Amino acid sequence: MYLKILTSKTILDHKESLLELCDPLKKRPKDYWKSLKNSTYIIVAFKGEKLIGASRIVTDMYMCAMIFDVLVAPDYRGKGVGSGIMEKTVKFCREKQIKNVSLVTDPSHSWLPDFYRKSGFTVDNSRGTYMILGK
Ligand SMILES: CC(C)(COP(=O)(O)OP(=O)(O)OC[C@H]1O[C@@H](n2cnc3c(N)ncnc32)[C@H](O)[C@@H]1OP(=O)(O)O)[C@@H](O)C(=O)NCCC(=O)NCCS
Repeated sequence: MYLKILTSKTILDHKESLLELCDPLKKRPKDYWKSLKNSTYIIVAFKGEKLIGASRIVTDMYMCAMIFDVLVAPDYRGKGVGSGIMEKTVKFCREKQIKNVSLVTDPSHSWLPDFYRKSGFTVDNSRGTYMILGK
């Protein structure tokens, strides 16, 4: 496996493969594409020519970065690909010295916090209350 850091311009060649990663029951492919196109960086994993996983970073390159849509193609899960993507994503944010790097886990899988703990994330309730604008 190898990993690459792409931008909204350099993902165009990989549009179809990226959209295949997205579970259409969770997110419409056109919405995922809109998110990808407007992300600051997209980390992608390849096995040979095949794109097998990705994550997205949205960041101001100084104070904060949010990581979204850590996705591995179903046939390649449980083989360390997700961990590899997270390692690269975290390394990149650390190299850029971004102060606060965060993510929100999908509540449908109780093991996801442990997955992210392995990449150095912790649950932090000390910075105030997480709030979201209502519909
Ligand atoms: C979450 C996801 C990216 C993990 O990728 P992956 O390549 O399967 O993960 P890895 O093989 O690197 O696993 C790393 C660790 O995560 C945990 N883990 C991964 N899959 C797991 C599962 N199905 N059940 C329990 N723990 C699991 C294990 O602790 C594993 O460590 P181990 O190999 O030492 O046991 C992948 O399952 C996925 O794409 N899921 C669907 C999308 C999703 O839910 N994304 C997260 C949104 S917050």
